[in-house]
Amino acid sequence: MVISAQIPVVAIDGPSASGKGTVATLVAQQLGFHVLDSGLLYRLLALMARQKKVGLDDVPALTMLATTLDAQFKQGQIVVNGVDVSEEVRSEATAAGASQVAAYPLVRLGLLQKQRDYRRSPGLVADGRDMGSTVFPDATLKTYLTASATERARRRYKQLIEKGMHANLSEILQDIEQRDARDARRSVAPLQKCSDAELLDSTSLTIDQVVAKIVMRYRNLDPRLVPSS
Ligand code: C5P
Repeated sequence: MVISAQIPVVAIDGPSASGKGTVATLVAQQLGFHVLDSGLLYRLLALMARQKKVGLDDVPALTMLATTLDAQFKQGQIVVNGVDVSEEVRSEATAAGASQVAAYPLVRLGLLQKQRDYRRSPGLVADGRDMGSTVFPDATLKTYLTASATERARRRYKQLIEKGMHANLSEILQDIEQRDARDARRSVAPLQKCSDAELLDSTSLTIDQVVAKIVMRYRNLDPRLVPSS
């Protein structure tokens, strides 16, 4: 049996819309690893709270929801309690709710083990805010991926328009700045670059360049630092 600590983890943390999700998926494809989109868990929690009419400040009820969170991922669809929430989960309103519930230490604790359970052989690429600092402090490679707020707003705007969704660039920029501020100043697992993470600024890089840099960093690690599962 493989013990979890022997399974490599590539942690990618950073602010909203820095491209972490896309980068994590592509890095995982190249390394043949599993992926954890931890933001999705916080988004699902905010959505479930809305479905069940739980207030976003009702910490005991939110914590209970977090520990029992059960979503099915079917062929690119996300289903919660029989409802397809694939689109709603990506909306800016859901993201704002996610950032609110994510500020509660008990809620974060409720989701901790669920995230660690994604660590399966042959390896995991995990993206979020606290992958390297709290969820997988022993991660094999830690990257802090960022880009200027304006560039991130522009990317998110383009994504929404391409999906045929309503979007307003200045509102998106405002949302991103508010979310960055809330994520950075919360008392537990705040958004921050941990000391052993490498900073990667993607403002003037393409997704493929970012992916290539992370994959190269991983492959160039000293083999003694890479657990073999
Ligand atoms: O990454 P994404 O934008 O989907 O995350 C939505 C929100 O969930 C973030 O703004 C943040 O508040 C919260 N989050 C978090 N810790 C994580 C991942 C996401 O607090 N590891």
